[in-house]
Amino acid sequence: MLLGQEISIYLVRLIDDNLTQLKKLNDDIFSRQYSDRYYADALASGELTKLAYHNYTCVGAIACRCEKKEDGAVRVYIMTLGVLAPYRRLGIGTRLMNHVLDLSSKENISEVYLHVVADNGDAINFYKKFGFEKTETIGNYYRSSESGVKDGYVFTKRLVIVKEQEVPEGKDANTDKKCETSSALLKLKR
Ligand SMILES: CC(C)(COP(=O)(O)OP(=O)(O)OC[C@H]1O[C@@H](n2cnc3c(N)ncnc32)[C@H](O)[C@@H]1OP(=O)(O)O)[C@@H](O)C(=O)NCCC(=O)NCCS
Repeated sequence: MLLGQEISIYLVRLIDDNLTQLKKLNDDIFSRQYSDRYYADALASGELTKLAYHNYTCVGAIACRCEKKEDGAVRVYIMTLGVLAPYRRLGIGTRLMNHVLDLSSKENISEVYLHVVADNGDAINFYKKFGFEKTETIGNYYRSSESGVKDGYVFTKRLVIVKEQEVPEGKDANTDKKCETSSALLKLKR
């Protein structure tokens, strides 16, 4: 039992070599197979999709997709967020969520959103804690042979844009290493 313990967690970017870790995690947590498109989007999101490790074991993940809205603005969609049951309430979901919100702010993304099944009270509590608000109700959002048909919600968080720091005199902005998320997002912004 880990409840109340502090455990060390490190976040790792999703790459081809650890893709099976995410597949296994999704299988354990959500008991479902996600499409190739889901995994392609997660890989393409760069630093936005992260696996959480404890002692070389993948215990959680947040998987995102970058989307371009009709007005040209880019938003982030959290496709899945999950932590293995024995590792919940230890702050791992918080680490993963804070990572995505901080990075999105830095990248001048003003909106992060997600879907949640209406009776998933644990997740709804979690999202509200981060300032997500219900912006839409979707009737018959989720269907499964075991639990039948359920409504779903869209939860959205609007972010405060962080203004870019001015480059100090004599320093070439182009020499700064930009994370690949920036280039993935820049492509979308064009
Ligand atoms: C939702 C989920 C990712 C949260 O991950 P976690 O690592 O347990 O979350 P944290 O420990 O960072 O919790 C942060 C806060 O969220 C809230 N919270 C998290 N789980 C909760 C629960 N079961 N009941 C009530 N509040 C909860 C609490 O306020 C908690 O702070 P506290 O522990 O100091 O009270 C995890 O419960 C999970 O994987 N659930 C199954 C998958 C799922 O439903 N994902 C969402 C699909 S949309």
